Amino acid sequence: MILVAGSANLDFVVRAHHIPSPGETVLGRDFKTYPGGKGANQAVASARAGAAPTHMLLGLGDDAFAVPLEASLHGAYVQLHTIRTPDHPTGTAFICVSDDAENAITVAPGANAQLRPEHLPSLKGFTHLLLQLETPMETVVAYAKAARAQGVAVVLNAAPAQHLPAELLAHTDVLVVNEGELATVAGHNGSIAECLSRIDVPTVVVTLGHHGCCARQHGAFILQGAFPIKPVDTTGAGDTFCGCLVAAMSRGLGLQEALQFASAAGAIACTRLGAQSSIPEAAEVSAFIAQHPKTSAEADQTLRAFCGLPSL
Ligand code: RIB
Repeated sequence: MILVAGSANLDFVVRAHHIPSPGETVLGRDFKTYPGGKGANQAVASARAGAAPTHMLLGLGDDAFAVPLEASLHGAYVQLHTIRTPDHPTGTAFICVSDDAENAITVAPGANAQLRPEHLPSLKGFTHLLLQLETPMETVVAYAKAARAQGVAVVLNAAPAQHLPAELLAHTDVLVVNEGELATVAGHNGSIAECLSRIDVPTVVVTLGHHGCCARQHGAFILQGAFPIKPVDTTGAGDTFCGCLVAAMSRGLGLQEALQFASAAGAIACTRLGAQSSIPEAAEVSAFIAQHPKTSAEADQTLRAFCGLPSL
């Protein structure tokens, strides 16, 4: 069983030609709300991957914004452990998605900031705990410590980027970051491979957008090339990757296969609008992998070079 402890936000999304620069106003186009939040997105991804029952610990306000979030999580069969905070609104995120599929996100944490160490449910029966950084750091550290003490594997998606206390890294089994988050955690100097090697966590995975992803497990590097897609909205793609990675690991897949499954799911999510609305089911991911031949030797060498690894 997998427990995701983290945020749920209602995403207010406007599409525009480009993301405004500081001080700039951009006239956007259509506006829509979508269920989001890094924690909830990852819980939905894990549940749709279908490997193990997924539970989520989350904070919600006593308001109308909570309703679509609960509906989306229930619809994905995520078992909820809800901390209701009448004095704090449900989390919201304000997202601009550009025509080249990039986004800029501002989160108002609301109830997410009220998750406390004492809210962690019993971990009996759970194999994996998946955490992100949209809830208070003190809470994240306490949950990681409790999980480690009970033999539950701790997977941390260090997003949004923040400096990580040594105590948190010491209780993390798998760390997942993007390129910017890797620089925040490991420092801005050196190649991707060197940055991965500097982090004292058994397994570290960095997602690299259209380049693919790279993992360091103990002393070995494992790479997965990106799948060819035309992205329309990358919101939630990293969350899809994290939820599916944990689901694949809980199924007992090796890291190479788990990276392939997570990358394929993340790629599919980029081809659709919204966060949870874009996350595929396991069967679709498997069919997508079957349809897409292995990445070329040339692409593999390019990815190795991008990471600062010698060519094979
Ligand atoms: O990672 C994407 C998510 O970040 C969005 O759904 C938004 O709610 C923010 O948490």
